[in-house]
Amino acid sequence: MRHTAVTIDGPAGSGKSTIARQVAERLGFIYLDTGALYRAAALAVDEAGVDPADGDACAQAARHAGIELERGRVSIRGRDVTQAIRSHHISSLSSRIAVHPQVREALLSLQRSFREKSPLVAEGRDTGSVVFPDADVKVYIDASAEERARRRHEELVSKGFDISYEKVLDDLRERDQRDASRGIAPLVVPEHAAVVDTTHMGIDEVISQVMEVIQEKLAD
Ligand code: DC
Repeated sequence: MRHTAVTIDGPAGSGKSTIARQVAERLGFIYLDTGALYRAAALAVDEAGVDPADGDACAQAARHAGIELERGRVSIRGRDVTQAIRSHHISSLSSRIAVHPQVREALLSLQRSFREKSPLVAEGRDTGSVVFPDADVKVYIDASAEERARRRHEELVSKGFDISYEKVLDDLRERDQRDASRGIAPLVVPEHAAVVDTTHMGIDEVISQVMEVIQEKLAD
């Protein structure tokens, strides 16, 4: 069955995860964090000692990782990795393995399978352009690199990671560049997407704006 799909894409640190989670809750839809699947695949690659530059080997590690995502918990082969996939190392590694078409292909059917179970809010880099091109509503969330790095740094420090703002900003710029310039499924504003810039907005304001866009489109 083809359920309603809302997609929320944007660069790292744009606030899209918080927005997608809260919007899904308000709509009573499931929240599909596609980045968590790439992160779980990256952790599997890391643990298997696979070369991140080897697309076939990374895809194989991702396919055999037994990745599951349920009610906000991520697991590989039944082991809960929800926290482990949030490290800075896995952030960079997930972006590196995400450039391989074989890895993206390996995760595509897993992502699409969620829509067979329930209406969803999917969040990521290519959910509106590639994963669910026929989504009912598409939103693109943006913010300046400095503001996104400030938010990421605050989040990492609050989780106990010891890292400077400058390092987060440098890595974020590098990741932006890689996510936007890769040959397959680059980060783009999907056609017909509503663009929301959150640089100078508080989270509550952003959520009401996004909810307005969604309700308008779903009413059509
Ligand atoms: O959203 P995130 O920071 O958790 O995503 C981690 C990495 O995964 C990101 O740098 C690029 C990749 N990714 C992707 O290529 N496509 C997606 N739909 C989601 C994430």
